[in-house]
Amino acid sequence: MKDNRNSDSGGIKEEINKIPEKGPFRRDYWRSPLRGPWFASFMSLLLLIVIPIVFITGLIDHVAWNPDLGGNNNRTPDMGILGFLTGIEWPTRPIWLYRLTEGMHVVLGIALLPLVLGKLWAIMPSLYKWPLADSLAHALERISLLFVIGGIFFQIFTGLFYIQNFIILHNVKFNQLHFYGNWIFIGGLVLHVLVKFPVMIDGLKNRDTSEELSKSRDETEPEPEEEGRLVSTDPAEPTISRRGAIAMVGGGALTLMGLAVGQTLGKKWSRMAILSPRAQTLPGNGPNDFRVNKTAEYAGITPEMAGPDWRLELVGRTTRRLSRDELLAMPQYTSSLPIACLEGWSTGNQNWEGVRLRDLAKLAGMPDAGKVLFESMEEKDSAARESYMRHNQIQDPLSLLALRVNGADLSMDHGFPARTIVPATPGNRNTKWVYRITFMEEA
Ligand code: HEM
Repeated sequence: MKDNRNSDSGGIKEEINKIPEKGPFRRDYWRSPLRGPWFASFMSLLLLIVIPIVFITGLIDHVAWNPDLGGNNNRTPDMGILGFLTGIEWPTRPIWLYRLTEGMHVVLGIALLPLVLGKLWAIMPSLYKWPLADSLAHALERISLLFVIGGIFFQIFTGLFYIQNFIILHNVKFNQLHFYGNWIFIGGLVLHVLVKFPVMIDGLKNRDTSEELSKSRDETEPEPEEEGRLVSTDPAEPTISRRGAIAMVGGGALTLMGLAVGQTLGKKWSRMAILSPRAQTLPGNGPNDFRVNKTAEYAGITPEMAGPDWRLELVGRTTRRLSRDELLAMPQYTSSLPIACLEGWSTGNQNWEGVRLRDLAKLAGMPDAGKVLFESMEEKDSAARESYMRHNQIQDPLSLLALRVNGADLSMDHGFPARTIVPATPGNRNTKWVYRITFMEEA
């Protein structure tokens, strides 16, 4: 009986040990002569340039919502120590700040896809290493890889689905997935980089990069076999040079960026953004013919709600109800500002006319209000239905309760009878179809 068990477990062990001889676990299964430490390190370098920018602009998006003001400005409540960024005062200048940072986030985020695929291709043989881990440290490193690889695909696909308006992601709270996913990914990445950074530097130092990039396909030699598992033991003839492979990956990234950046640049450039749904609603020439994320019909706003009976409720030390005509009778100012959407698209500057928010604060008896709440008539239970802003946003002379745009009354889709427009502020923090503004003492 005992003997039988021994021979069984011996059999299993033997079978397990045979795995390296099978399929992709065999080192000679991977035959590309391009693979090796230099090539993998070069791919890592590209990622290490782009990922930090995407990470930092993602955090900037988080701060731009002023999450510490509460309400639906904070889309990830209970974030514990991850809330260390809350409390930073989001500035109102330069006016294109959010347009730039969110545009970079989305455009470079999309460009990550070919870079990640290129890097995965370069290191494929080491993913099929057997045994999977030969020490505790090695096991931890492999586990961190799960977070890194799974994490980056998770971030890319949640981001892509969101900007493509896949309604399913709106239902499962994109922000929570993308925000917490971000920290899981970055945690794994930091661990991975700590372990692998010296390896990357060695990989790059081992060869002269400019010489490597100057080699044609026929001059492409495999890296020396003893330089590690990535190098094939049975290399095939090269079908492309290393510089060709890098150009293919970089070209893929640049093409995707080219197809996305038009939506951030706005105007006629948006025609280039053929993969972006919002760029497809091509603007006409009228004063209100620029993009919206949500129409009045979608938000449940009827002409009656926005008709002559509409009143703005202004709450502070005193409460007032103002008609549109009364608002138009107040001093009017013009601000030239873009709508810069969370999804990375932007409209270019529009000339908004209306009442300064700081004049409304004075009228409500709270000239030094620390915080303000805007409420919309919008019926959908969306983040855009209410928005908090802080002192600096109220006080900025360009911050308006806009009544007109580009010389005409606001259209229903752009927020008639009144909407807010505040410099450098994410599109959906600018409330459309406002019905109440409440100024408060403390931020
Ligand atoms: C390495 C990959 C990425 C990382 C680490 C990352 C990280 C982040 C972070 C931390 C936020 C702030 C989330 C919040 O506060 O709720 C964010 C927002 C956002 N990300 Fe990413 N992201 C990545 C890739 C992408 C990609 C590929 C896209 C789209 C193609 C994308 C689209 C967005 C959008 C649209 C927002 C704004 C959401 C909003 O404000 O409602 N991200 N990202």
